[in-house]
Amino acid sequence: MTVTVGIDKIGFFTPDHYLDMVDLAHARGEDPNKYLIGIGQSKQAVIPPTQDVVTMAANAASQILTPAIKADINMVLFGTESGVDNSKATAVYLAHLLGLPANTRAIELKQACYGATAGLQLAADFVRVHPTAKVLVIGADIARYGLRTAGEVTQGGGAVAMLVTADPTILALDAISSYHTADVMDFWRPTYRTEALVDGKYSTNVYLDFFKTVWADYQAQTQRSIADFSAFVFHLPFTKMGRKGLRQILPEADEPQQASLTAAFEASQADNREVGNLYTGSLYLSFLSLLRHGTLVGGERLGFFSYGSGAEGEFFSGVLQPDYRSGFDDDFLTRQLADRQAVSVAEYEAIFQQQLSNDGRDTQLAVGQERAPYYLAGRQHQQRQ
Ligand code: HMG
Repeated sequence: MTVTVGIDKIGFFTPDHYLDMVDLAHARGEDPNKYLIGIGQSKQAVIPPTQDVVTMAANAASQILTPAIKADINMVLFGTESGVDNSKATAVYLAHLLGLPANTRAIELKQACYGATAGLQLAADFVRVHPTAKVLVIGADIARYGLRTAGEVTQGGGAVAMLVTADPTILALDAISSYHTADVMDFWRPTYRTEALVDGKYSTNVYLDFFKTVWADYQAQTQRSIADFSAFVFHLPFTKMGRKGLRQILPEADEPQQASLTAAFEASQADNREVGNLYTGSLYLSFLSLLRHGTLVGGERLGFFSYGSGAEGEFFSGVLQPDYRSGFDDDFLTRQLADRQAVSVAEYEAIFQQQLSNDGRDTQLAVGQERAPYYLAGRQHQQRQ
């Protein structure tokens, strides 16, 4: 008997503050339209020192976990490239914070922005073999490039939490996918750095080449074509990137299909435009944005392009389930984004410098402004509090 496996629930968290890209453009002497249209970003999340990937993941996961679901979780797969320890997995901290059962496997996965897709596919394969299992998959990151760099406008941060089960509420994953790896120096962050190094223009070309490669391979493997899809969801380091990806494959001769795929893309970029890059979580925030703002109905097939610099790309697909809107809390997500407060460029620059120091010293963070249920209070005796 074939088991249907996929995404049952999705939660999303981003901190309370954002920077307006018009303000950033003015401060950097750029035309605001370069950021708003050329890059395609309106706002970017500003991550305070009181939120790291563990606390952001806990805030996202707590939206979708009831005590009964927690008791059934067998595995936590945490995709991140902003880990807090070179040895201990973020997933172990998270499992403890959420009160998950001790008989849980908890592992961290790293391959740039691809880590959460690795988690999703490994989780799906695990559930295919163990159909009663429930797996918590996380994509959480803080995208940092440095003040006054070309990448600054593509920063952001937050966490997406997904529950992967049999008979999922949101999306049934197709078993076939296409993936591709090459050793490429387009974006990387050696262990001695807190900001990424990036060959920006080159990275956008590698992204597009990988998309072409895995999409062609997927079509050859499945005999499906663009006509079989209602929407394509992209990893969105900035929203213009996905727009360029979609343009590569839009069928020139079929205007109605072009219009409907473009409309779906607009829905899929709406929330990312307000938050910026989440690295591992970006593709899944874009999926959530499509579900929230789009007009899809159950039974439609969606295509996903995941890309992680360095580099790994994967094209996979899934079929939307009829009751998909009950797999996430739309009102909560709308409120979360609407309730954020703007910071000035000077405030953003100050927050950017306020990282927990790298010298291991005891630190008490100012937590007075934190509204999230989970936050980092500081460090004592070399341990996160
Ligand atoms: P840049 O040099 O500042 O920008 O870098 P630009 O000069 O290329 O301009 C950007 C766009 O704005 C261009 O449009 C301009 O024409 C347009 P395009 O040719 O691309 O269509 N423009 C304007 N439009 C309207 N009005 C104006 C105006 N002026 C210019 N007045 C770059 C841009 C993306 C390279 C930079 O921000 C960067 O390095 N970002 C970080 C790297 C990145 O995000 N790469 C994406 C692919 S790699 C990836 O996705 C993986 C990643 O998520 C990491 C991971 O895997 O972990 C990054």
